[in-house]
Amino acid sequence: MIKNIKILSNELNILFDNEKEDKFPNIWLRDHARDDTSWDSRSHQRKVFTAKIDNNLYIKKAEISDQGNSLTILWSDMDKPIKYSYNFLIENSYNYKSETTKCKPWIKNEIDNKIFINFDKVNSKDGFKSFLKKLYDFGFCVVTNCKTDISSVETIANKIGYVRQSIFGGLWSFESDKNMADSAYTQDELRPHTDSTYSNDAPGLQLLLCCEYEANGGESIMVDGFKIAETIKKENKEFFDILSKIEVIGQYKGDGVYLKAQRPVFRLNSDKEILQVSFNNYDRAPFRFKNDLTLKFYESIKKFDLLANSTEYQWRHILKPGELLIFNNWRILHGRGSFKGKRKISGCYINKEDFDSSCRIYNIF
Ligand SMILES: [Fe+2]
Repeated sequence: MIKNIKILSNELNILFDNEKEDKFPNIWLRDHARDDTSWDSRSHQRKVFTAKIDNNLYIKKAEISDQGNSLTILWSDMDKPIKYSYNFLIENSYNYKSETTKCKPWIKNEIDNKIFINFDKVNSKDGFKSFLKKLYDFGFCVVTNCKTDISSVETIANKIGYVRQSIFGGLWSFESDKNMADSAYTQDELRPHTDSTYSNDAPGLQLLLCCEYEANGGESIMVDGFKIAETIKKENKEFFDILSKIEVIGQYKGDGVYLKAQRPVFRLNSDKEILQVSFNNYDRAPFRFKNDLTLKFYESIKKFDLLANSTEYQWRHILKPGELLIFNNWRILHGRGSFKGKRKISGCYINKEDFDSSCRIYNIF
C-alpha cells in the first residue's frame, strides 16, 4: 500500500506501508508512464521518446487511488493523468531486494534428500516449478529415474530453454577419451571448477546424465561458490577484494580453437552483490599484473581453492544410471572423483539468461 505522497521539486516522495520511503525523480516517473502514447502494453516496449521529455516537466496534481494500491499523476506535458501501481513502484524502490541475494548458500551438511526430484515430477507443471526452485535455491539438483539416453537431457533442457551450442557440440556424450584436449575426459580426479572461464558468456546450467556406470569411484562433487564468497568476505576482506577485482584470464587452446576471456573470480554488480563465480585452475592462462599484488593474489586463490577442496564444502554423490545432475555454472563449482572402470555421461549446456527467464516466468524470483 501507498500510505502517503509529497510533491517535491523534481521528485515525488512516496511513503510505503512498510514505512520505507523513496523519492522518485519526475523524469523517471514520466519515462515510465504506462499510457497508450508512452507504452506498448502488447510488446512491453517503451514508445515515449525519452530524450524529448520536457526539461521543465512538473507534477500538476498527484493523488493516491484504489485504497493505496495505485497513484495517479497529472503531468505538465499531458492531458490525462497517468496511473502507477503500488507493485510497480515498490518493485522499483531502492529498498526492493534484488534477484541475486535470495538464494541459499550452503555447506555440505545443509544438503539432504530434498535435492533429488523424479523425472516425471519435473515434467508436470507444479513439479517443474519446484524443480526450478530447488535449482535456484541450492544451485543444483538431481533428477532421478530418467531414461538412460540422451533424449532425457534434451527433454529437460527444452523445458528450461534450449540446448546451447559450444565447442563440444550441443548435446554430447563422453567416456574417458585421451584424444580430447579437455581435462574432463580423463579418469583422474577433477578438482572443483566452473566451466568455460574462457568464454565471455559462460554457460548458465550444465546437465550431466549418467547413462552407464560400471566403475569404482567417480563421485560427482558440488561446491557452492557463493558460500565460499560469503566465507572469504567474512574472514578476509582483502582476499575478497582481490578476488573481486583482478581479472583472471581463462583459455581453451586445442581442437582447432583458441578461446580467451577474463573476469574476476567473484564478479559483483554495482551494489557489490555477487553475480558470478568463475574459477578454473586448469584453464587459467599465463598473465601478469602488478608485482605487489601477485603474492596476495596467490594467497587469495589458495584460500579459495582450499575451501573448495575441503570436505565441509563438498557435496559428493556417485551418479547412478538414470540420474541427471543439473547445476548453475555461474555459482556452483563441480568436480569428479577419480575412477576406474566404465562411465558414460551425456549432457549439455543451457544459457544463464534462459534459466533466469524460466525462473521469472515461474515467479521463482
Ligand atoms: Fe567441467
